[in-house]
Amino acid sequence: MEGAGGICFSDHRGRPSCSDTLVFFCNGKKVIDHHADPSMTLLSYLRTKLRLTGSKLGCGEGGCGACTVMVSKYSPKDKSISHLAVNACLTPICSVHCMAVTTVEGIGNTKTRLHPVQERLAKAHGSQCGFCTPGIVMSMYTLLRNRPHPTMGEIEGALEGNLCRCTGYRPILQGFKTFTKEGCCGKNSKNCCMSSSSNNIDLGVSTQLFDPTKFVPYDPTQEPIFPPELMMMLTEKTPVLETFCSDKVTWFRPVLLEQLLKLKSKHPQAKMVVGNSEVGVEVKFKNQHYSTLIDVNHVPELKRIEDTPTGVRVGGSVSLTSLGDHLKKLIGAEPEHKTRVFSAIVEMLRWFAGCQIRNVACLAGNITTGSPVSDLNPLLMAALCTVELMSSKGGRTVTLDGSFFTGYRKNIIEPEEIIINISIPFSSQNEYFYGYKQSPRREDDIAVVNAGMRVVLIPGTDEVEDCTVAYGGMAPTTVLATKTMENIKGKNWSDGLVEHITPFLVEDLPLPPGAPGGMESYRQSLALGFFFKFYLAVLEQINRDAVNIIGSSIPESYKSANQSWDKNSAQGVQMYQEVPSGQPDSDAVGRPLTHLSALKQTTGEAVYVDDIPHMDDELYLGLVISKKAHANIISVDATKALAVEGVHAYVDVNDVPGRNRFGPSLLYDDVLFADAKVTCVGMVIGVVVADNQAIAQAAAKIVDVKYEELPVVVTIEDAIENNSFFPITREIKTGNVEDGLEGSDVIIDGEIKIGAQEHFYLETFTTLVIPKDGDEVEIISATQSLTRTQSLVAEALGIPIHKVMCHVKRLGGGFGGKESRTCLHAGVCAVAANKVNRPVRLMLDRNEDMLITGTRHPILGRYRAGVSKSGQLRALHIDLYSNCGHTYDCSAAVLERAMLHADNCYKCTNVCVTGHLCRTNLASNTGFRGFGSPQAMLVAETVMSDIATKCGLNPLKVRELNFYKEGDRTHYGQELQSLCLERCWEQCINTSNFVNRRQEVDEYNRGNRWRKRGIAVIPTKFGISFNCKLYNQAGALVHIYGDGSVLIAHGGTEMGQGLHTKMIQVASRILRIPADKIHISETSTSTVPNTSSTAASFSSDLNGMAIKEACETLLHRLEPFIQDDPKGSWESWVNAAYMNRVSLSSTGFFKARDLYFDWETGQGEPYTYFVYGVAVSEVEIDCLTGGHQVLRTDIVMDVGDSLNPAIDIGQIEGAFVQGYGLFVLEDYRVTPSGHLLTIGPGFYKIPGFGDIPSEFNVSLLTRAPNPFAICSSKAVGEPPLFLSASVYFAIKDAVLSAREDAGIKGVFRLDSPATADRIRMACQDQFTKQFPSPAPGTYKPFFVRP
Ligand SMILES: Cc1cc2nc3c(=O)[nH]c(=O)nc-3n(C[C@H](O)[C@H](O)[C@H](O)COP(=O)(O)OP(=O)(O)OC[C@H]3O[C@@H](n4cnc5c(N)ncnc54)[C@H](O)[C@@H]3O)c2cc1C
Ligand code: FES
Ligand code: FES
Repeated sequence: MEGAGGICFSDHRGRPSCSDTLVFFCNGKKVIDHHADPSMTLLSYLRTKLRLTGSKLGCGEGGCGACTVMVSKYSPKDKSISHLAVNACLTPICSVHCMAVTTVEGIGNTKTRLHPVQERLAKAHGSQCGFCTPGIVMSMYTLLRNRPHPTMGEIEGALEGNLCRCTGYRPILQGFKTFTKEGCCGKNSKNCCMSSSSNNIDLGVSTQLFDPTKFVPYDPTQEPIFPPELMMMLTEKTPVLETFCSDKVTWFRPVLLEQLLKLKSKHPQAKMVVGNSEVGVEVKFKNQHYSTLIDVNHVPELKRIEDTPTGVRVGGSVSLTSLGDHLKKLIGAEPEHKTRVFSAIVEMLRWFAGCQIRNVACLAGNITTGSPVSDLNPLLMAALCTVELMSSKGGRTVTLDGSFFTGYRKNIIEPEEIIINISIPFSSQNEYFYGYKQSPRREDDIAVVNAGMRVVLIPGTDEVEDCTVAYGGMAPTTVLATKTMENIKGKNWSDGLVEHITPFLVEDLPLPPGAPGGMESYRQSLALGFFFKFYLAVLEQINRDAVNIIGSSIPESYKSANQSWDKNSAQGVQMYQEVPSGQPDSDAVGRPLTHLSALKQTTGEAVYVDDIPHMDDELYLGLVISKKAHANIISVDATKALAVEGVHAYVDVNDVPGRNRFGPSLLYDDVLFADAKVTCVGMVIGVVVADNQAIAQAAAKIVDVKYEELPVVVTIEDAIENNSFFPITREIKTGNVEDGLEGSDVIIDGEIKIGAQEHFYLETFTTLVIPKDGDEVEIISATQSLTRTQSLVAEALGIPIHKVMCHVKRLGGGFGGKESRTCLHAGVCAVAANKVNRPVRLMLDRNEDMLITGTRHPILGRYRAGVSKSGQLRALHIDLYSNCGHTYDCSAAVLERAMLHADNCYKCTNVCVTGHLCRTNLASNTGFRGFGSPQAMLVAETVMSDIATKCGLNPLKVRELNFYKEGDRTHYGQELQSLCLERCWEQCINTSNFVNRRQEVDEYNRGNRWRKRGIAVIPTKFGISFNCKLYNQAGALVHIYGDGSVLIAHGGTEMGQGLHTKMIQVASRILRIPADKIHISETSTSTVPNTSSTAASFSSDLNGMAIKEACETLLHRLEPFIQDDPKGSWESWVNAAYMNRVSLSSTGFFKARDLYFDWETGQGEPYTYFVYGVAVSEVEIDCLTGGHQVLRTDIVMDVGDSLNPAIDIGQIEGAFVQGYGLFVLEDYRVTPSGHLLTIGPGFYKIPGFGDIPSEFNVSLLTRAPNPFAICSSKAVGEPPLFLSASVYFAIKDAVLSAREDAGIKGVFRLDSPATADRIRMACQDQFTKQFPSPAPGTYKPFFVRP
């Protein structure tokens, strides 16, 4: 109900009468809620109650930033306003009482005025699918509200908590760079960031994808003011204890310490809430229910930071951001030696969560939770900090020492006690202090191991007086290394100390095989490595400070061991061919047009499936999924769930009116609902249909399923051992491998495993099913396969296909993950909607999506290669084993594409590639950008790398020697025409200055023992077309309306890849009209039937040709009117045709030439053409931790005549960063019993802003028209992904150098992803040798990689 100037909610039923009225402002409007539900988050309040759907739900756990909004607070005491970016998904609605919330809708829109942040992000091409975009806009907006002219470092800091799966981040950073003081001059100066560093730019080549000089200037004075009414309210009102209640939860908001102590005394079990970053996660994901919550953000004593003579006293509720800011001030003001602990805390906060979490989370929350990998506890413990506790009975001060934590997440704090403050001491002149953290991803990630280390030396000497060493990640709690601490006292801080201490550290930090967390040897090596770093850091400081101590000197080559990582600064150049000078202005092809929806995506106006307003009678689904990987279902009892108020039905296999079993082959091994047996964790057994998501999910959890467990197979190795395969093997053979091997000088045998990769599209799978007239069904589904969804639903319901209408406007990313598995879930929804005969909606939680929708196929490659002394390939045998999961899905097609790409770019006359489909008890793996080929190409490149290492040859020369040449045939017999591999190769090597940099890298490595650099150049060749002939067809429908506007429909879905934009560009060329006269509304089975999935990078080619045909037909019909009136306009010709009763609507159809490959005979040409590209990457690794940074990447990519260079470069950068995730970062782990461990963004790390190459240059190969596709273009979606393998091989190159320093020579195995633990353990040295890995089979590992 809208009140005067505000929104008022008052009609809630069944609430206790204790509730005060919640008041806050949202986008300047007052919101009054008389019955606010304390269990609701700000995000669900915005989306469901205020219908502000701009803020997105990407994860619900603070890990993606898609929900970011700005919360503004006014302090009447010091009359100050503060603006904070927060995660709305973790912000309890009651916590914003008396605050002002600004969402993406509140800062600008396309109808009135765009905010400069929105405009610049869109125009810099920083939004593809757009699902992450509102969150990124709000993070940047909040930064600008606090700092109108930020530095690049501040921008990167503000975006650490935001993820994007599409763009590769560079365009976002570059767009926002225009807000910095340095800004961007739009190439109006010699040193512009957008100018090429290379002098040899060809004529007609541009480096400008957008023009910053046209941006509306940013004027901070135009920002909305803090709501005056709220300011007045806060000034006039004396704060009082307020209470908000629902029937299940009570929220207290004390404003005095006395009130808080009384409340805690009355409700000792009450949870206190500050940032809710622990409590919120416990409630949402750990099934915790807290009936009493106390918001301790408004008690002045807990919000204070006081400087004391001995250090600083920090109130329990002080946010980590405020703590960091205050410590930074002290560091600037006090002598260096006094603030060493503060410096370590500030440095640690740099790597602690993202900005949104740090803005709200507090120190007391971190201490109390007592996570074994808490980042601050080791520092506080090592610094001997004290904690002041208080209850209504009195107070006490305790030291954060070894007795503070009493067990896993347990401590000595009594239930009635609260932390009032924490005292952090100054350090003394002879005291040295450092903190360490190693996590899989550098930014916004939880530590594997962290540590705080302090040493006090006897003045004037290097003798240890006292030492505290605290570790996290080595035990169920933060621990002190007590034996080490005892035995170091009296020792000199000099040569031999580390060797002396190592046995004590090993004893202090035992990790038996199978210990929780796994990676035992790595974690132990890290612990030693940290101490070694500490030793070097202190030694360096002693050498610098204490001139009269004749201690040990540090070898020059050890000095970089403690170097910290730099931030990225969005440096890079993007080069592309400009359109020819004579091209008419109206012809949009080849121009860097902004993605058509980009502006709407930046304002939150772009509608995704879950943004569609809820219908009055709509219901929601809660999934009942299997908790066992392999079991017979003994019984299912939904009685309790059905008794829950708001539950309407339980739906399972018995409710399917048509078919329950599906599958791409005669196996039909996929089911909508499990029937008697489950074969993976996450298999859908049934669904609960209820009034809303919360009820449905809660009720689904109490459906009682009883299982009889059966043996499980999880990994490829398990499958091989248990002979668990699908009954299809594939083989490609050419020449005679045996003869080839016999005639070879060197034989190389090896094995590499490439792990799974989660799609992690930002929008989880969502569908809305609406039963219509009679037996008609409307489905709005975030799928890449509308036709397949339509036909599956028809079969599930037992109705003809024409009764099912399936449509979608846009997807928040797909990457192949929404191609086949989504159809099954749409089927489940349709069966449920059919049973209750009401609309039903399902949006998977991030955790559900990760658990049940499958991943990229892990592949194990075993190879044997025979080569000449000069490195020429004579014979190659590769066996590929693919982990398919529990059903077939598209695994055979994925494996086939993998096998067809096992040559990458190399010719070999004697080849045998075999493929095996492993059946395991995991969710069914499915298509993912590249469809198997990146995995196989990595095997091929590993062979090349091994040849170079084993034969002592230059890897670059080995690759060149084996390259395909024009006219060569691949191992499956397809002739390679218009091969531009060597052009890409030469250009990339030249522009990247590879040869000189190779020397520089070698030079660097000679001078550095614990930091190493590596550089690699990697090519790719990618075949275009669906492997299945049937799918190589497309349709389009084009209407011209009376006013000359054109509406296009085609079979492809828009998921961020810019397909609709490109299709409009094609139509613009054919119809000879500007792109702004053309529109695409959505993709629907009603306008274009029988479509192929939007996949295989082939959608522009197929749909573009179909649109071309339709447009040509229409133009042909208009031709007489053009002839009649050559000086007329498009509108006048259209009008004349209409008046003459000429049809202004046409379909178009295209089928690609007959492409096929017959696996029985080994005959056929599967691809219409090939795309080529080359990348050079350089990295630096930390040999003691396995951490790394990508210093620079240069890519040259062949995309034919680009349809849209901005979109193509965006695809290249996005694919590269996604591939970097595949080969380096994204580590998918399950338990040996098949339960996913790396679930949610907290545990599964996709690349973030900080992971992209510090310098990232992309060039589109010029003058390379492709005769085989629309407007001479080439496909671009998948081909560039593999180029990220250049980072993997650069890492391998760096590791090789580290191993050589340790005296280890020759080929070594490095599985993908090359995670920090693998990098560290491959760099063997005196530390890793302490911890040999236990033999497999002698213990139960904590996790396995499938
Ligand atoms: C996305 C994400 C990233 C994260 N990254 C990191 C990271 O990098 N490193 C890391 O260490 N942690 C990390 N965390 C964990 C978490 O953010 C921290 O532990 C944080 O400090 C908790 O503070 P909070 O205010 O949010 O706690 P809340 O969730 O509000 O409260 C947590 C607990 O503290 C208790 N509590 C609060 N105040 C007091 C008090 N005054 N006295 C006694 N008890 C009190 C509460 O009762 C509750 O049990 C992350 C969490 C998320 C969601
Ligand atoms: S949805 Fe809030 S951080 Fe992901
Ligand atoms: S544009 Fe960022 S996730 Fe798609």
